[in-house]
Amino acid sequence: MEKIIEEEKQGTTLKLESKASNTRKLFIESYGCQMNFSDSEIVASILAKEGFNTTNRLEEADLVLVNTCSIRDKAEQTVRKRLEKYNRVKREQNPNMKVGVLGCMAERLKAKFLEEEKIVDMVVGPDAYKDLPNLVAEVDEGRDAVNVILSKEETYGDIAPVRLNSNGVTAFVSITRGCDNMCTFCVVPFTRGRERSRDPQSILEEIADLVSKGFKEVTLLGQNVDSFLWYGGGLKKDFKKASLMQQATAVDFAQLLHMVAAAQPNLRVRFSTSNPQDISDDVLHAIAQHRNICNYIHLPVQSGSNRILKEMNRLHTREEYMALIDRVHAIIPNCAVSQDMISGFPTETEEDHQDTLSLMEYVKYDYGFMFAYSERPGTMAARKMEDDVPEDVKKRRLNEIIDVQRRTGLERAQFFLGKTVEVLIEKESKRSDQHWAGRNTQNYMTIFPKDDYKVGEFVMVKVTDCTSATLIGEAVGYSDMAGPLTIEND
Ligand code: SAH
Ligand code: F3S
Repeated sequence: MEKIIEEEKQGTTLKLESKASNTRKLFIESYGCQMNFSDSEIVASILAKEGFNTTNRLEEADLVLVNTCSIRDKAEQTVRKRLEKYNRVKREQNPNMKVGVLGCMAERLKAKFLEEEKIVDMVVGPDAYKDLPNLVAEVDEGRDAVNVILSKEETYGDIAPVRLNSNGVTAFVSITRGCDNMCTFCVVPFTRGRERSRDPQSILEEIADLVSKGFKEVTLLGQNVDSFLWYGGGLKKDFKKASLMQQATAVDFAQLLHMVAAAQPNLRVRFSTSNPQDISDDVLHAIAQHRNICNYIHLPVQSGSNRILKEMNRLHTREEYMALIDRVHAIIPNCAVSQDMISGFPTETEEDHQDTLSLMEYVKYDYGFMFAYSERPGTMAARKMEDDVPEDVKKRRLNEIIDVQRRTGLERAQFFLGKTVEVLIEKESKRSDQHWAGRNTQNYMTIFPKDDYKVGEFVMVKVTDCTSATLIGEAVGYSDMAGPLTIEND
């Protein structure tokens, strides 16, 4: 199975249960990161109160919303193609439909979007979704509507997301918004604003509600979850201005993990994304201590070269990262680690690239998400550096990175051969309706014959075969949810 996720291709139309009293039809689809998918659930919740049920048919939609991604140029091109499609449908089948763009492209392009794409009636940034009722009313009256104001406080903590297209087993729960890290290649700090954390109480309540509805796993989401800090609300950068009382009673990410894991001992907990400079040993100990926190950390590094890390404003060295990996393995037995890598950042030499490959050999990542550098307007790298690595060189380096990842991924997957792992059944396997698919604690997708097991059950699966990203095996019984997650077989 291919490990490289081309997230911008994963546009998904979301469907929601109908409310009988609702009369208007919303078509909403999302591109990009998990946060966008999670945000679309908030948007659907806000619009359900305004009389909208979702539909998966463009031809019958009164309102079409696309939640957009700006992370690479290709992601934006994908959205532009979707707008062309909406245009055709509007012209030929559905002349009254209105179109709104949400998310990072909306924030980046602002009102310019209305000029560039005539089909667009509404532009709404990631912090402005509560204004949607007003914006939709404007559009209903025939005016274009724009709100791209970024907020210091908005976390949507008070909105119960409508679970769209849900398998009823796994859900995302957003815990922070924005990012303060200012990696020089990255557009996110500009499109999602400054970092702020959500009230732990509202996080715990959302999770308790999910558990009561039968969900078995949550992924805590943020651009930089390890930076989570709740001190009563407001921006992370204003923490020092908070009262002594607020500072003393603040909740950090490790504490949040303890709270969630202890409150729901039968719920699996995952989180994403971790930033190497912000993840603390307390977080590693929390993972080790709670059986229900999964042994998997997504720990993007971007490059293995100290010089490039500095140019990227990643605030750690190669050596510090390697030491962190050593601590991960010392504290959490059998922890899986995945990466994000960028090939061809400005000024990257062959030597820098070799440093990336050798770091990958050292870490032996389980998975990876690998990209060729794409210059983003407005970022520090775009303003200060020339995009000087030729496209063919970026591609070649990317392929070399992917090759190493395939090899180490396969090596890591082979570790599980002959062992028995605990799997939460999520869905039918894409390749066979006779097999279930679910992940083990290390986040490996595991495929096995259905027998009499059901979606949402925890089962023990004996692994008999693997590819570099998938384990294949057979179920040997239910999990007791108390023993070890990986059993060493004789
Ligand atoms: N902290 C975020 C990271 C968002 S961006 C999170 O929650 O995942 C995801 C990945 O996209 C980054 O780690 C980086 O590897 C890649 N990326 C970001 N900007 C990029 C750019 N300009 N060109 C190529 N890849 C980029
Ligand atoms: Fe982007 Fe760096 Fe934040 S990659 S999302 S600025 S941690």
